[in-house]
Amino acid sequence: MKTTFLLNGETVTAEIPPTETLLDWLRLTQHLTGTKEGCNEGDCGACTVMVQDDQGIRALNACILFLPQIAGKAIRTVEGIRADDGTLHPVQQEMVEKHGSQCGFCTPGFIASMATAHATGVTDFNDQLAGNLCRCTGYAPIIRAAEAAASAPVPEWVAADKAALTTLPNAALPTSGDELAAILTAQPNTRIIAGGTDVGLWVTKQMRDLGPVVFLHACDDLKQISINDDQMYVGAGVTIETLREAIAPHYPSFAEMLRRYGSTQVRSAATLGGNIANGSPIGDSPPALIALGATLHLRHGDTRRTLPLEDFFIEYGQQDCAQGEFVEGVAIPLAAKGLKVYKISKRFDQDISALCGAFNISVSDGAVTTARIAFGGMAGTPKRASHLETALIGQPWTTETITAAHDALAQDFSPLSDMRASADYRLTVARNLLTRYFAESQGTLTSVLEVQP
Ligand SMILES: Cc1cc2nc3c(=O)[nH]c(=O)nc-3n(C[C@H](O)[C@H](O)[C@H](O)COP(=O)(O)OP(=O)(O)OC[C@H]3O[C@@H](n4cnc5c(N)ncnc54)[C@H](O)[C@@H]3O)c2cc1C
Ligand code: FES
Ligand code: FES
Repeated sequence: MKTTFLLNGETVTAEIPPTETLLDWLRLTQHLTGTKEGCNEGDCGACTVMVQDDQGIRALNACILFLPQIAGKAIRTVEGIRADDGTLHPVQQEMVEKHGSQCGFCTPGFIASMATAHATGVTDFNDQLAGNLCRCTGYAPIIRAAEAAASAPVPEWVAADKAALTTLPNAALPTSGDELAAILTAQPNTRIIAGGTDVGLWVTKQMRDLGPVVFLHACDDLKQISINDDQMYVGAGVTIETLREAIAPHYPSFAEMLRRYGSTQVRSAATLGGNIANGSPIGDSPPALIALGATLHLRHGDTRRTLPLEDFFIEYGQQDCAQGEFVEGVAIPLAAKGLKVYKISKRFDQDISALCGAFNISVSDGAVTTARIAFGGMAGTPKRASHLETALIGQPWTTETITAAHDALAQDFSPLSDMRASADYRLTVARNLLTRYFAESQGTLTSVLEVQP
């Protein structure tokens, strides 16, 4: 498969199998070894590169990025971040000044993330750099370097790359849901690759041959978000980062949970459709979407159908999705008043949930009128807590009701013990999250990020 893109300002065409990663191609065929391989699974950021296209500039992990995903885009590796005359980029200069590098293994990845933040004007460096791990320097000098560089002018090559994008040929990829549907109808066993943040690992860690694949990222109609009076429709190809920004004004707690989804690099690649279609019991978006009463839109050839999102997840590893059918989008009601989403994981950033609870409860005249509650990590699928909901609806919104409702959770879930948490821990925390939701509804601050004197 031929893929044409800009690499450090030069137009290049690679002819490679569609599941070759950008990291392997850079290091093995171009000998651009500045981009490092640490984990090869999206966790460490050593392989971060800067990617620019007509949607903007993002930092992405090259180790789980297949070459067709960068067709028609501009890539900057650490070798292309300083100016042609050798002048260091402001973030490189400040890393020198602030002693931001010791062994240096992580440094190229940090530089790519920092140059991306610098170009986009993003200054929440704790979030921006959460996907870059450093084992020896410590983060304070690195953050200081990013802060010191923030006000320096953006190098001219950033605008030059943007202008040069228009000179690149169109990629041979489906560009609409119609084209994608036709490909999947003709060959139903074709594997969709959206962001590749799951599928990438099947290749880099499991060495799987994926068989026929189709890339979804060039289908512009699947990347749309539209809002009307009562709902937001989010296309399957919308990234988690874009969803986070779009959902924040409506459901800040959902957006805050998504801030802890993977890292900037992962959120900028992973799509909402992939997070649902993979059927993972610990996917972070389904509990919130189920609690909100979201509707899934599926398409098979020219036939479309919708279903409540919770009905999509049949059991572990089995979703209500036929071969050749795909997720087109999700409709999210916007009327919920009391949504809170809690992600419980061992690390704050860049960690998979042990469990994730989403609560959407309405109270009127002191009594519960509606309740939609869903959990991830408590069963083989993301699942609604129907017994808990029944135990709450119609009851006074009091501590006594909350305590009495705790037992219902054991009717809803028999969680597993695994490396992330024991069954007991999961059940106890799920109960505690209900208590936390109640406490917050009474005005008690429960977040350790919001400690007050
Ligand atoms: C380092 C790292 C951290 C992560 N952290 C988190 C986290 O905190 N929370 C979390 O929930 N997940 C996390 N993940 C998992 C992953 O990011 C998500 O599951 C992601 O949303 C998958 O989306 P994608 O677009 O990358 O899917 P892909 O990898 O492209 O595809 C995943 C699966 O869905 C199918 N698929 C994709 N799109 C469609 C569609 N439109 N219709 C039908 N099938 C489709 C694919 O064929 C494949 O089977 C993490 C992954 C990594 C590597
Ligand atoms: S090598 Fe660790 S994120 Fe790519
Ligand atoms: S400088 Fe050694 S890992 Fe960061």
